[in-house]
Amino acid sequence: MEKFLDLGLQPLANSYLNKKNLNLREKKFRLIVSFNPKNYLVSILNTVSKEKMFNEKYPYKSSESFTMRNSFKKFSHKIKKRFKPNLVLEIGSNDGAFISNFNKKKIIGVEPCKNLARITKNKGYKTFVEYWNVNLAKKITKKNKVDVIYSANTLSHIKNFSEIFRAVNVSLNKNGVLILEDPSLLECIKNVAYDQFYCEHIYVFSSIALQKILNNYNLEIFDIENTFTHGGSNRYFIKKKSNSIYKINNSVRINFKNEKTFGLHKISTYKKFAKKVEFSRIKLNKIFRELLKKKKKIIGYGATAKSCTVLNYCKIKKGTIDYFYDTTSFKINKYLPGTKIKIKKYKKLTKKDADYVFLGAWNFKKEIFKKEKKFIKSGGKFISHVPIPRVL
Ligand code: TYD
Repeated sequence: MEKFLDLGLQPLANSYLNKKNLNLREKKFRLIVSFNPKNYLVSILNTVSKEKMFNEKYPYKSSESFTMRNSFKKFSHKIKKRFKPNLVLEIGSNDGAFISNFNKKKIIGVEPCKNLARITKNKGYKTFVEYWNVNLAKKITKKNKVDVIYSANTLSHIKNFSEIFRAVNVSLNKNGVLILEDPSLLECIKNVAYDQFYCEHIYVFSSIALQKILNNYNLEIFDIENTFTHGGSNRYFIKKKSNSIYKINNSVRINFKNEKTFGLHKISTYKKFAKKVEFSRIKLNKIFRELLKKKKKIIGYGATAKSCTVLNYCKIKKGTIDYFYDTTSFKINKYLPGTKIKIKKYKKLTKKDADYVFLGAWNFKKEIFKKEKKFIKSGGKFISHVPIPRVL
């Protein structure tokens, strides 16, 4: 393991504070990112137990974003067309943004966060409120194995992925397909999106690293789609090595090649990235300093886990950003971990709100800019740190 990036002391990214516990000491951990030259895995060193992160208070709901709802809807149609599955299972079904596109008899959700699982259960979807593991896989698929297993933005959260793949091997039909979707390491490094690293994102995968891991479980990637969600993600189509129905698509070779050409298999690439991260911090602080000098009012948009990393790493103070707007009901009237900046219920931006808006949810830039056309027309500006801190 070679450490290449130290993002300092960080609170748990999704542990939003109530007014009454604002003065309590927050649990913090040192966010250090490392590279394993043997299997090319990039991961954070100090991890937080899954029970502390994924419980009945988990705030993230996929359905609250139009972009995500739309992406899941489109993709579920594609799955039905391409694989014609009789039974689909989703690991990390969240509030049902994906599974709600399927016939209730043909889909199973697995979601350990009770508050989220309750939503899909109440709608009549078969949902197991458990962590995905071999025992659960055996229990669920005793009678019928699954044709497609889908999991988006979940694998990167799971430290012990060996259990995940063993459970997949138990439950997947011999000709079944595992589809994983996670932020792309190549996009993360290219865009200096260091905020992809926080307590929940234990790993940010490259396809070359994922294939090395899959080899240990007799699984292989046969197709890769590059998607735009979460700032650039990869959708990996994986099969058992014994399954010869699906040929290895050219997309796999191309992704492997692009990643190697960029140098994702070499520590020197990550060291260069770390230098750019440091520069990004200096530049962002400079932008804020200059705007404050001119007495400009700055607020934030999208109180994301990602912005928690940025704000704490850059040591941005409460007074710099007045407050954040966010649409997630659970976050409203709470405070961002570490910086304790207040989160207010979102309303359409006007120039009265602010002169400058820090884009915490930069991964939804397109959706947000469309929504805030009026604000932009009236001279309102956004600040984004990706790929380099600048006023947009
Ligand atoms: P997300 O991108 O999932 O980031 P992370 O995984 O880093 O937490 O979260 C997006 C957040 O941004 C979520 O809290 C909802 C908020 N948001 C808005 O407030 N308005 C919007 O228009 C969009 C698209 C998101």
